[in-house]
Amino acid sequence: MTPTSATLAVEDKPVEKPTPAAATLTVGQKSVELPIKHGTIGPSVVDIGKLYAQTGMFTYDPGFTSTASTESKITYIDGDAGVLLYRGYPIDELAEHGDFLETCYLLFYGELPTAAQKADFDYRVTRHTMVHEQMNRFFNGFRRDAHPMSVMVASVGALAAFYHDSTDINDPWQREVASIRMIAKAPTLAAMAFKYAIGQPFVYPKNDLDYASNFLRMCFSVPCEDYKANAVLARALDRIFILHADHEQNASTSTVRLAGSSGANPFACIAAGIACLWGPAHGGANEAALKMLGEIGRVENIPKFIAKAKDKNDPFRLMGFGHRVYKNYDPRAKIMQKTAHEVLNELGVKDDPLLDVAIELERIALHDDYFIEKKLYPNIDFYSGITLKAMGFPTSMFTVLFAVARTVGWIAQWKEMIQDPEQKIGRPRQLYTGSPPREYKPMGNR
Ligand code: SDX
Repeated sequence: MTPTSATLAVEDKPVEKPTPAAATLTVGQKSVELPIKHGTIGPSVVDIGKLYAQTGMFTYDPGFTSTASTESKITYIDGDAGVLLYRGYPIDELAEHGDFLETCYLLFYGELPTAAQKADFDYRVTRHTMVHEQMNRFFNGFRRDAHPMSVMVASVGALAAFYHDSTDINDPWQREVASIRMIAKAPTLAAMAFKYAIGQPFVYPKNDLDYASNFLRMCFSVPCEDYKANAVLARALDRIFILHADHEQNASTSTVRLAGSSGANPFACIAAGIACLWGPAHGGANEAALKMLGEIGRVENIPKFIAKAKDKNDPFRLMGFGHRVYKNYDPRAKIMQKTAHEVLNELGVKDDPLLDVAIELERIALHDDYFIEKKLYPNIDFYSGITLKAMGFPTSMFTVLFAVARTVGWIAQWKEMIQDPEQKIGRPRQLYTGSPPREYKPMGNR
């Protein structure tokens, strides 16, 4: 008689810290004790590493809704409270007081830099922003109308073909160089993808510009005239990069970790992360959210789309709404909304119909029982598209900018995984529901 359920008992009597120490899983007549691990903050975990050996059974959690895939010290999200910490620092304080390269240093090394460390880090990143000149020829193989994300996936993966001297993952020095190269070259490749798509010449980075101004110049300057990045827009873009830098074990970060667990080189791992980020349920939502706002078009059309989103038979979802972890307002969305207003004001955009639709859509949704019951709030992708469009980026570049910002998170998580003494190749198991063994049928008998 196969057991149809198991009982997991967690000691609930008050015990000395760390509470509780173990859980007992009872399956049929058999009970196994599973250690419980406690973090600094946030949920504890039941260590099931020995479950299969002790019970012959796997756990089952498609989508990993209740599964911790790793221990990490980088980013923490309290989804119920709407809190996001990078190495313990609240995202709103980092976005308010620091710049993106300071956040890169913090995520990568674990501490805020001193003035000297920041200057040295800025210098090192700045002097890795150029890409190998032969990459230009690599770009020319693409159709002009290729989606820039397809160009990013390919060109980042191709970096391994140009930078052999930083692909040995067992050499700490090469890991560091590859990481700095990734942070530095991501904006250059992104700008090249944009320029290639619009048929304008590539623009080389300039070492006397900050990260965001350099990126704006590589995207929007042309050889025929001087260009100076608008300081308000550059600050806004720098803040947008901070907001997108890392986010625990999201789908693309988990992809990078899984690819890295096989020993693949960091450029290949980041390319895998970019491929995963492209999906509309993930980083592609900013492009999809702006398209959705365009489809809604006017405030009067909102009720029709809200009804579609609530209709179980309609696959339509409000893009930029909902989140696996946030069951409260995404703290990044609040800052994104403020940034959207700043950018539109700076550009003298008095009434952007898309912003009007977004604000009214948010207001209606946040008062609708369906969204309240399912705890669906705007996420980071809801307002980013409006801001990026106002800056002059086409929707096809929105997820590319997300990838530029998330590169530091991916590479920091990749480094943490490589340095983890418990690290081994990721290899999930499955619940097999296919055919039992059967004999081969010759063609004549089929
Ligand atoms: C990012 O993981 C991360 O950290 C990601 C990210 C990061 O920084 O890396 O934060 C970036 O990817 C943000 C999310 C961007 N995606 C979107 O905005 C796309 C629209 N959102 C949904 O597709 C959805 O909310 C997800 C994918 C974001 C989350 O999906 P979950 O956690 O698997 O939740 P679910 O799909 O199971 O939804 C729970 C319920 C469902 O209804 P029931 O089946 O329970 O009846 O809520 C409904 C869903 O139908 N629902 C929505 C909805 N999102 C969820 N209904 C309408 N519109 C939506 N947007």
